Amino acid sequence: MTGTSATTLAQMATEVLTTADARAKTALSRQYAAAWRASREEDATGIAVGTATPPLRPARPDRPELLDPREVPRRRPGTPEGRKAILHAVAHIELNAVDLHWDVIARFSGMPLPAGYFDDWVQAADDESKHFNLMADCLEAMGSHYGALPAHAGIWRAAEETADDIMGRLAVVPMVLEARGLDVTPGMIEIFRKAGDADAVAALETIYSEEVSHVAYGSKWFHFLCGREDRDPKPFFHELVRRYFHGALKPPFNTEKRAEAGLPPDFYWPLAEDMPPKP
Ligand SMILES: [Fe+2]
Ligand SMILES: [Fe+2]
Repeated sequence: MTGTSATTLAQMATEVLTTADARAKTALSRQYAAAWRASREEDATGIAVGTATPPLRPARPDRPELLDPREVPRRRPGTPEGRKAILHAVAHIELNAVDLHWDVIARFSGMPLPAGYFDDWVQAADDESKHFNLMADCLEAMGSHYGALPAHAGIWRAAEETADDIMGRLAVVPMVLEARGLDVTPGMIEIFRKAGDADAVAALETIYSEEVSHVAYGSKWFHFLCGREDRDPKPFFHELVRRYFHGALKPPFNTEKRAEAGLPPDFYWPLAEDMPPKP
């Protein structure tokens, strides 16, 4: 897979977003991430950020069929079919994450942002591309593949609703949705450990360790932009999540990993459906 016409980072991002095939998308994503990193190590000859207009929705393969979350069949995790369904759901989330990170690059490329903002989201997109490939490999090792099962249709909604609000995007995508991944991944790892699937355990552990940095990038750039606009980060975060995220956050929270990612409890507990446990 080789990209052809893109010369700026924003064009590269748009090319990834308009690539439909999942393996082709992740291959192009990794290729452009490597090109960006290499160019940033050179002096003044690097790739420019440029500007581009990304599609409102990214191109996707014909399969999986996308269903309303309530219509996606639930399978018991104690069975091989249940484990395939978990890996398929994670693969789908990772593919969305590839597009989300390239979208946050292209969508806001016209804003004055430090180069480090682009470095971080390119790194995150590269990580997600690896994560998708790991999940697709695990599915194929189990005799399945990405596209074999239906998947959630709703994941891109947060991106569409925050298409003109960078602060809303950072609040909802890395600081809510990706932080949720930190809460639920240890339970998934345990399911595969009990099933004796060492490859899936290793893949999920890679994902778990690398996702902390994506939440941290979100927190870092959210705070940076709050500082630039002289806003108080915590109440503004609460306001944006209530505006763009539909529903309460679900405990239990992974307090330790969230803290490691720069997300203190007073950011997320006030948005939870239950009150924090008494000390
Ligand atoms: Fe990921
Ligand atoms: Fe991520």
